[in-house]
Amino acid sequence: MWTKKDLQQLIKDKMGEYLFIVVSNRQPYVHVLKKGKIECQRGAGGVITALDPVMQACNGTWVACGDGEADRKVTDKQDKVKVPPENSAYTLKRVWLSKEEENGFYYGYSNEALWPLCHMAFERPVFRKEDWDYYVQVNKKFAQAVIEEVGNNKAFIWIQDYHLCLLPKFLKEMAPNQLIISHFWHIPWPNYEAFRICPQRKEILDGLLANDLLGFHIRYHCDNFFDAIDREIESKINRESFSIVRRGHETFVRPYPISVDFAGISEISDSDDVLKAKGALIEELGLCGLKVLLGLDRIDYTKGIPERLLAIDRLLEKHPELKEKMVFLQMGEISRIHIPKYKALNDEINALVEQINWKHSTDSWKPILLMRRHLSFHELLAFYRLGDICIVSSLHDGMNLVAKEFISSRTDEGGILVLSQFTGAARELTDAVLANPYDREQFSEAIFTALNLPEDERRKQMVKMREVVGHSNIFRWAGKILSELLKFEFKE
Ligand code: G6P
Repeated sequence: MWTKKDLQQLIKDKMGEYLFIVVSNRQPYVHVLKKGKIECQRGAGGVITALDPVMQACNGTWVACGDGEADRKVTDKQDKVKVPPENSAYTLKRVWLSKEEENGFYYGYSNEALWPLCHMAFERPVFRKEDWDYYVQVNKKFAQAVIEEVGNNKAFIWIQDYHLCLLPKFLKEMAPNQLIISHFWHIPWPNYEAFRICPQRKEILDGLLANDLLGFHIRYHCDNFFDAIDREIESKINRESFSIVRRGHETFVRPYPISVDFAGISEISDSDDVLKAKGALIEELGLCGLKVLLGLDRIDYTKGIPERLLAIDRLLEKHPELKEKMVFLQMGEISRIHIPKYKALNDEINALVEQINWKHSTDSWKPILLMRRHLSFHELLAFYRLGDICIVSSLHDGMNLVAKEFISSRTDEGGILVLSQFTGAARELTDAVLANPYDREQFSEAIFTALNLPEDERRKQMVKMREVVGHSNIFRWAGKILSELLKFEFKE
């Protein structure tokens, strides 16, 4: 089993004098002002959950956008700050975007074009030429920040996600012999029928082919990528070595299912702080004596939150005996709220919660509690620990790390996972209770099945799933990618 130590050893043995730089849009830590004081919070989302423990083990530099109100106050002249605040394990170098850049690059092209393009959630992508122009401009800005960091050294660069498709190409143009580049794509790669509508598809593929190594969660996404290349780019696809050769450069494409820090989460979950936080949450929310169903997501239309609420509604219609015996606790951090579809989704969720609560509530009880406040890591684990059932109902998800975090936190071997069959995680976590979020009857029945699962069966499922996540943990994911990356040799 891969451990944090194995990863550290690999870096120590093989990284040598070379620099190690991770690049993503979202930063792992944000500095905010709370009651006039600077507070450092960990960012939300899959990339951070996965990469932060890896970086804490590797001590490299992470380049990402600064967007917190106090971010500039804590960075030095090179825009750098050590994080996390407790142990300064690695360096965060911040890139600053103007309002226009943030709007065009992040809200626009990344999240109104590429995000819906890659997820089959039936939201139409919006391709605006001006957003694309900002996307190109910001990718160049990232390239400059990375090159500034590399200086005269040689470096292994590890790029994250769909915001930075052009970065590999710009980097290779700026420093052809100094860099070995890998890119991990954290969301699904769509099939060609879906992908071909993208007006900038050739530029995107061209940018990604500058990588030496390109990773997706599952084989199916790699195959979709090969199809796109096959149809759009003159190149040689080598199915045996799983690579693409174009103009003398070879890009290896591989599936690497992402995960979480199983051992770290397990350990902290047993701490007194987490147990105390659990007690406080139970009291604050009045959960004592109730079966607790959990949902935890960024508010995003790919996560199937309205579908989940409607399944709860159906469950209570069919099984009114559950009234006053259970509660569904939905935690959701607001996300990308300047995009109209996200704003509309947020309003829809508020309205649905009102409606369902009004329909089923009694004098002393309501079925759904919606919470929006930021949870510290300890509170997050406490939240997982108080649930009898965790519901993940994504309409489409590359992997879904909430499912794996929930499992990792359950050292008590308690809890049941109800998991959408449309997540990458469903391929590994075959012992979860699987559900189709589009099928309200089946979905509500799946929740009912979970509620009534015999104790020994429930425990058996959790033990098996803990084995799976314990084995395929985040250090294995990073170790496999970095072992492959470190085999590449720099050009002379
Ligand atoms: C997904 C994406 C990440 C992103 C995260 C949070 O997990 O794959 O790249 O960081 O969502 O979204 P946000 O837009 O808030 O960074």
